[in-house]
This record gives sequence, C-alpha cells and structure tokens, in this order.
Amino acid sequence: MTDQMKRIALARRPEGVPAPQDFSIETMDIPAIKAGEVLVRVSCLSLDPYMRGRMSDAPSYAPSVDLGATMTGQGVGRVVASKADGFAVGDLVTGMTGWADHAVLPAAELRKLPEDIPESTALGVLGMPGFTAWTGLRKYGLPKAGETLVVASATGPVGSMVGQLAKAAGLRTIAIAGGPEKCALAVETFGFDAAIDHKAHDDAASLRAAIAAATPDGVDIYWENVGGKVLEAVMPLMNVGGRIPVCGMIAWYNGAEAGDKLPLIWRSVLTKRLSVNGLIIFDHWDDFPDFLSDVAPKVAAGDIAYLEDIAHGLDDMPQTFISMLTGGNTGKQIVKL
Ligand SMILES: NC(=O)c1ccc[n+]([C@@H]2O[C@H](COP(=O)([O-])OP(=O)(O)OC[C@H]3O[C@@H](n4cnc5c(N)ncnc54)[C@H](OP(=O)(O)O)[C@@H]3O)[C@@H](O)[C@H]2O)c1
Repeated sequence: MTDQMKRIALARRPEGVPAPQDFSIETMDIPAIKAGEVLVRVSCLSLDPYMRGRMSDAPSYAPSVDLGATMTGQGVGRVVASKADGFAVGDLVTGMTGWADHAVLPAAELRKLPEDIPESTALGVLGMPGFTAWTGLRKYGLPKAGETLVVASATGPVGSMVGQLAKAAGLRTIAIAGGPEKCALAVETFGFDAAIDHKAHDDAASLRAAIAAATPDGVDIYWENVGGKVLEAVMPLMNVGGRIPVCGMIAWYNGAEAGDKLPLIWRSVLTKRLSVNGLIIFDHWDDFPDFLSDVAPKVAAGDIAYLEDIAHGLDDMPQTFISMLTGGNTGKQIVKL
C-alpha cells in the first residue's frame, strides 16, 4: 500500500468565476489512523454546485473551507485499513472524503454501500441530490395530480429527480435546460412534457413567453434551482396558492446582479399568496432511509432514470467544477480516480 496521497486544496478564495489557480494539487503523507478511524482509497468523487459557496468566507448556513485545507466533498471508495469495529478491509463506503484519492475518517462518518448497484449512484440519484429532490417535493412542493411543475437545470441530478417524481404523481412537468441536447434529454430520458432552452432567450420576458406557451394552466410548483433570469420569467406565471421550494440559485453563485428586479419578484409572492420554503438538505437526514426504501428499488427496476457525466482524475477537478457551474455537465458530475 502506498503511504502517499494526492489532494486538491483551496489556495485562494475565488473572485467571481473560480480559476484553476484558486486550487493547488498537493502530494502528502497519508495520516496515521487512530482507534475508531478508517482509511479509504477513493474511487469516485462528487462535484456539486454547493461547493462554490464553501469557497467563499461570506457568512452562510455551512462553514467555508479554510485556505490551504482540502476542498470538501463526498466520495466513494474501499476501506484499505481499519481500526474501527464494523469496517473491514475491502468494504465499499461513502463519506466526506474531500477532493483527494485517500481519506482518513471516523467510522461514524462513513456509510457502507451495497455491492450490487453502481457505486457512483451513492453520489447522485441515490445520494444527496436525489434525496434533496425527493424530500423537498414531498414537504414543500406538495404536488397534486393535474397541476403543473417547472424546474430548471432539469437534466441535473436534482432537477431530473424532481421532474420524474412529479410526473409519476400526475403533474404536467416543464423542464428548463441549457441547449437543444439537454432539452431533448429532458423529454426523452426524464419524461418531461416539454422542455425550454433558456440559452435561446436573451431576456426574462422572452423566456417567460416560451414558458407561458408551455403552461396553459399556469404554474403551481416552481422548483427553484437557479434564480436569475429563470426566476424572473416564472414568477408572474405562478397560480394562486403556488409553491416554490427554494433549493438553489446557481445563476448567482459566481456573483449576483444588481437587485432591481426584486420588486417584480416579491410583488408576485405577495399578490399570489405564494409559499416559499428554503430547503437545506441536512435538516432532513433522518428521512434518508425512507428515501432509499422508496427510490432504490425504482432505480434498480429502471423506473427512475439517471444520467452521470464522468470525468477522470484529480488533476482536472477544478476545471471540471468551473465548467459545471455554467452548464458544462450533462447529468450528475462524477470524477473517477
Ligand atoms: N438546498 C440544498 O440542500 C441543495 C442540495 C442539492 C442541490 N442544491 C442545489 O440544486 C441546484 C441543482 O444542483 P444539482 O446538484 O442538481 O447540479 P446540476 O443540475 O448538475 O447543476 C449544474 C447545472 O446548473 C445549470 N445552470 C448553471 N447556471 C445556470 C443559469 N445561469 N441558469 C440556469 N441554469 C444554470 C446548468 O444546467 P443547464 O445547462 O441545463 O442550464 C448546469 O449543468 C443547485 O443550485 C444546487 O446548489 C441544493
């Protein structure tokens, strides 16, 4: 077994769009494991939009990554050494390994994975993003058959799960996605009733006209993944009593525009009596076993589709992350080592 590991650390805090120079690739000794700890050799890493927030030191709901520390993130790998009861060499596990090819973690922070499904699903369709969609739709979306749902980043792991669950509940589902290929995927792979290319519309008014044409009965649920132009387009189309689970605002993760559009947005919240719920998935982890019992058999049976975009190697991870923030990924972004 090697005694060296490679990791990617945060070298400086990005200004606007992150640059490769904001990260450093380092080789270091693998830390010695203590009682109760496990050494994992990582085979698969997750890249997620929330990581942009962790690169900033602005106050947030979660702590930022310290300068010089390993970038945070979930990984999957095999146990190569264990000083913890219940974990043996060879076990397949997942935990917050960080952007690294090895990680020493307390056993309590690891979860064993089954061997009979692809390991990468623990990072996407059967992991945090899939669970976010499942729990947020049930608790805040409150879908009813016959209603209409709109979601952007619709081919990503959250949006594609939201769309499929809503469709199965009898809703009309409208995808917003970037480019004709993703729009085709939204309809053909994820069963959306229609898909609208946000990149084909320069402004919110034009995008709104396209969404209005696809939603003749208005919008009952807008699942908020992106903010920006899409939010501005959808808000006036909301029906009385509509619901907006606010899950993410990726359009603003590299910096927000001036806030002079807020009057339009918040006037819609007021006049339509909308419920707007902030959703942070770590408030809901107690429901994760229920999510797996419900969704894992459907994934195994092929009743829930998922897409993964597989990149390779630690060295290009910063560039892959930067690209994901502006739509370079198609499906859940995974990095295989
Ligand atoms: N609240 C929580 O606990 C929680 C948990 C998980 C995820 N989230 C949030 O959920 C959202 C989706 O995350 P995900 O994990 O499913 O990843 P994801 O969909 O793969 O996110 C990347 C995608 O976002 C879309 N995007 C980027 N900039 C955009 C813009 N300006 N306008 C419209 N779309 C844009 C792009 O898709 P297109 O090319 O199709 O535009 C891109 O491929 C993110 O905002 C994330 O932060 C929140």
